[in-house]
Amino acid sequence: MTYKPSNRREFLAGASGAALAAAAAGAAESQPPVRVAVVGTGARGSDLIRNLSTIESAEIVAVCDDYEPHLLHGHKFAGAQAKAFDNYSKMLKEMKPQAVVVATPLYLHHPMCLEAIDAGCHVFCEKTMCYSIDEARELADVVKKRGAVFQVGLQRRANAIYKQAQAMVQAGYLGRITAINCQWHRNNNWRRPVPVKRGEPKWSALEHRLNWRLYWDYSQGLMTELASHQMDIVNWLLGTPPKCVIGAGGIDYWRDGREVFDNIWCTYEYEVAPPKSNAVAGRTLDEENRYTVRVAYSSIQSNAYQGASELIMGDRGTLFFTQQKGLFYRELGVEDPGWSKDGRLDRDATIVTSGKTLKMSNDPWAHRGKPLEIDITGDDTREELLAFLDCVQREDPATISDAQNGLANTATVLIGNEATHSRQVTPFPTL
Ligand SMILES: NC(=O)c1ccc[n+]([C@@H]2O[C@H](COP(=O)([O-])OP(=O)(O)OC[C@H]3O[C@@H](n4cnc5c(N)ncnc54)[C@H](O)[C@@H]3O)[C@@H](O)[C@H]2O)c1
Repeated sequence: MTYKPSNRREFLAGASGAALAAAAAGAAESQPPVRVAVVGTGARGSDLIRNLSTIESAEIVAVCDDYEPHLLHGHKFAGAQAKAFDNYSKMLKEMKPQAVVVATPLYLHHPMCLEAIDAGCHVFCEKTMCYSIDEARELADVVKKRGAVFQVGLQRRANAIYKQAQAMVQAGYLGRITAINCQWHRNNNWRRPVPVKRGEPKWSALEHRLNWRLYWDYSQGLMTELASHQMDIVNWLLGTPPKCVIGAGGIDYWRDGREVFDNIWCTYEYEVAPPKSNAVAGRTLDEENRYTVRVAYSSIQSNAYQGASELIMGDRGTLFFTQQKGLFYRELGVEDPGWSKDGRLDRDATIVTSGKTLKMSNDPWAHRGKPLEIDITGDDTREELLAFLDCVQREDPATISDAQNGLANTATVLIGNEATHSRQVTPFPTL
């Protein structure tokens, strides 16, 4: 079975979308292409260039990287019209692009975005928006003051599965969300080969350039590199950032000189209002009666079972999703006979039915039935770029993941790191 939103409004509501709504109306069709420059032509930058080169509303005017092999690699995809630079300031000055795509290591996002905005550019910045919460606050403030169009590369917001899932949550398919599990589990070491031998004079500089993810000076590890995508989805579905987090992690498997954790486990607490749709579902939860949803996040690099996935658990249904597939399982419509959810014990039912109840609850397969599959169309990286370019053409700052969202996302993942370092309950800061 395939889920299709029942009407266009429901779909657009889930699509978070001034950008989508306008795209649907064809608002930007007559505009000239956006003159785009890309800084950082490594792995992700090259992906973005490949995508941009297939999009009519973009003209790649320049690419920039200060590491020659990557610059040559990225330039190949950009096309002959793009000018290659090894100096970012020079590129901004000479080319005066309309928009800059920042795909450099995390620690460079803040200075490079500020410089681009200062040069009058709109910005697409790869996730995570900033290395620190203070930097993210400053950048969000500057974006607002300058009225720049700014989008953070959290592409699940442009992914058909997540957009439809969001519409389903809004429409009450899951009932009341009570718990979420997210994981990004891999069985690899994250390390890239360095083209000189350890101990040779150039090794250290190359190691830090190519394996920047493994060192705290440039990276915030698994939380900014992987969790940022999934915690963004959690914030989106729950409609709020978390209240606090506890965490644990360490370097327990890949003892290869890295500094960042190779495994991390965080439990976040969110305070949310009961969904309005519960009233439609015949429930009478008080809107003021906010409650706690706990979210377990884990990322490991020694086992890939269940890969990168999210499990959203509601009292009426469950969503299981990955970037490629979304599955919705209804909860069985059996009222729990042994106890009642509002705390009133049903003494007559407790003894006679507890065996049946336990059997039902403990069998992981009994609840599943046939899932509802959610359609996927398109590639989310391409879709997020299309959405950004559309906002640039219309000078609309309401991107699918603006700087305020980037700030909330940065804070969400960085308190996970902070909690893991301190082993203390760490509150979400005032932003
Ligand atoms: N959205 C996603 O799915 C996704 C996927 C992968 C990476 N990313 C993000 O993209 C960013 C880059 O990651 P990556 O894997 O491509 O890293 P990478 O190391 O492959 O590429 C980064 C590039 O930046 C260049 N660079 C460094 N300093 C520079 C400077 N001063 N001027 C110009 N270029 C400079 C490096 O030479 C390198 O080529 C990170 O923020 C990462 O989190 C996002």
